[in-house]
Amino acid sequence: MNPSFPAAPPVERAAEPTEANIRDLVYGFYDRVRADPLLGPVFETKLAGRWDDHLPKMCTFWGSLVLGAKQYRGNVQQAHQPLEGVEPQHFSRWLYLFLDTVESRYQPAAAIRFMEPALRIAQSLQLSRFGWDYKIPAEQQALLERVAPKRHPRDDEADRHSRPAGEPFPVPIVGRSSEN
Ligand code: HEM
Repeated sequence: MNPSFPAAPPVERAAEPTEANIRDLVYGFYDRVRADPLLGPVFETKLAGRWDDHLPKMCTFWGSLVLGAKQYRGNVQQAHQPLEGVEPQHFSRWLYLFLDTVESRYQPAAAIRFMEPALRIAQSLQLSRFGWDYKIPAEQQALLERVAPKRHPRDDEADRHSRPAGEPFPVPIVGRSSEN
């Protein structure tokens, strides 16, 4: 784990997502986001005075995705279009903090239920923000392949190498290698 980030507070890792532990995850994650020197200002600029609306909305969002609660009504792409100054490094940091917070709070099988949609949605937000030929950072791609192994090999491997590179992403998170 990257030692330059403050660690997530230790808690007992849940085997199953529930409404209550999703709430703790969301509030714990945004505590870290707000304290983060890179992400904090982006969120604060947009959400000052509106956190009390945002956080319950994010609980509903994750509950809909992970518990199938189907209560979230919103447009994720649209919500991110007007954000000023968001660069590849913001996505890497967001993902790092989110995946690390999830990993600290859930056992692996449950953790993957959050990680896969987070990585996929982050990919689609990055492509719509930086252009459809933006190259998703290899670390993010590798993480997605670890949490959601591919059924078919990529057929666009050659094409991927000709695109501009994105920001590097910190360390692997799920199933750390033996040297970590
Ligand atoms: C660089 C990374 C990101 C930044 C800086 C960011 C920032 C924000 C901000 C400021 C808002 C509030 C918009 C508003 O109400 O005016 C928001 C909303 C939201 N974000 Fe993100 N976000 C990031 C990545 C993600 C990712 C990867 C996901 C999903 C996995 C996500 C899911 C959402 C959702 C569901 C909302 C609420 C949308 C709605 O209003 O219905 N965000 N985000």
